[in-house]
Amino acid sequence: MSTPQLQAYRASLLHFHADPAFSDSAHTWHEDGLLLVADGKVQAAGDYALLHASLPPGTELHDYSGKLILPGFIDSHLHYPQTDMIGSPAPGLLPWLENYTFPTERPFGDAAHAAEVAEFFLDELLRCGTTTAMVYCTVHAESVDAFFNASERRNLRMVGGKVLMDRNCPEFLRDTAESGARDTEALIQRWHQRGRALYAITPRFAPTSTDAQMGLAGELARAYPDTFIQTHAAENQDECAWVRSLFPQARSYMDVYDGYGMLRPRSMYGHCVWLDQQDRVRMAETGAAAAFCPTSNLFLGSGLFDVAQADSAGMLVSLASDVGGGTSFSMLQTMNEAYKVARLKGSYLPALRMFYLATLGAARSMQLEGTIGNFAAGTEADFIVLDPQATPLLQRRSSRSNSLEELLFAFALLGDDRAVAATYAAGRRVHAREAA
Ligand code: GUN
Ligand code: ZN
Repeated sequence: MSTPQLQAYRASLLHFHADPAFSDSAHTWHEDGLLLVADGKVQAAGDYALLHASLPPGTELHDYSGKLILPGFIDSHLHYPQTDMIGSPAPGLLPWLENYTFPTERPFGDAAHAAEVAEFFLDELLRCGTTTAMVYCTVHAESVDAFFNASERRNLRMVGGKVLMDRNCPEFLRDTAESGARDTEALIQRWHQRGRALYAITPRFAPTSTDAQMGLAGELARAYPDTFIQTHAAENQDECAWVRSLFPQARSYMDVYDGYGMLRPRSMYGHCVWLDQQDRVRMAETGAAAAFCPTSNLFLGSGLFDVAQADSAGMLVSLASDVGGGTSFSMLQTMNEAYKVARLKGSYLPALRMFYLATLGAARSMQLEGTIGNFAAGTEADFIVLDPQATPLLQRRSSRSNSLEELLFAFALLGDDRAVAATYAAGRRVHAREAA
């Protein structure tokens, strides 16, 4: 058996092994570090001075000195079919869905259209340094095939699923409880665990699924416990009032999903702005996770996610763009807005915490620690190279930073796709800002 070619990457290295909100030594930082990769997996991450002497002859050394290498970002909630409607104005979630979202999702039964958008979408994620995402497709099975085919060609660790929607939506986007369940099961069998693909059972949100559809989605979630679940919850006050009128027997919006057995590990609830503490505790005890979507919540005027309350309940939390409700593909720009939302709620999100939430925190929310999210030996080599000199302003500010926290804060507040010099997936370069 031939030994796989070892690749070595020299840069400052940052990754996490715990949550900085609950541990004083949650991260590892190697100012002059070396990341060793073979066969698409991390072999080791450590100090250059310690590791380079033992490199076997023939090791390829990639010198990114002066830059930072981090695990690829993980975006735990966004919609690829909404790429072309990002930044569409509307006075709130429900008119935005009606006037822009549903018409934009209509043509995704056309495989060629779906493929064209999926290709652009994945390249845009990679330009922004996002290597894993939990992605909504549309109600059309063709949209899921297009997404996973495009992802497979790039060998990305992606989660996606067909939207289930059998009421309160235009006829042209409607499935039925039975057809939705049948299509979902076929897609699970076609895509889940094929290469790096993972499937998410995807009821859009409680208002657009009948009791029959929610019931069948819950049954699928029990029949395939290692699949994911993704949906929206408690995003906007008009939506919450609508859910109260549709499900008068439920104690709360989250209780609707709980009643169908959909709070479990690997379930991801987008937004979670209007929860009460009982909902949060229930999410924590079932292993359900929240996707905090600050750019979307601010843009649509939905409300302010409460990080401190989520933490006090012990909930799993991750960061997400929610494109196209969100206004940027960049997880750095998502951090920028997350920081401000936390301030408006009277709390504080350090940059280290935000980088954790966008890497290992998200991997933990998705039960994927050990696979992605940090540089533990054996994890998949998805990583990014951040450039503190990417823009004149970032260069000036970062050169005056006095700590790692200040440097990361500069990336979060001033950075975007321009700060990402290169992106690697399973050890292969999938984006370079400048041609090599
Ligand atoms: N709620 C139901 N569907 C959607 C969607 O597509 N985007 C957002 N932000 N919220 C939703
Ligand atoms: Zn969404």
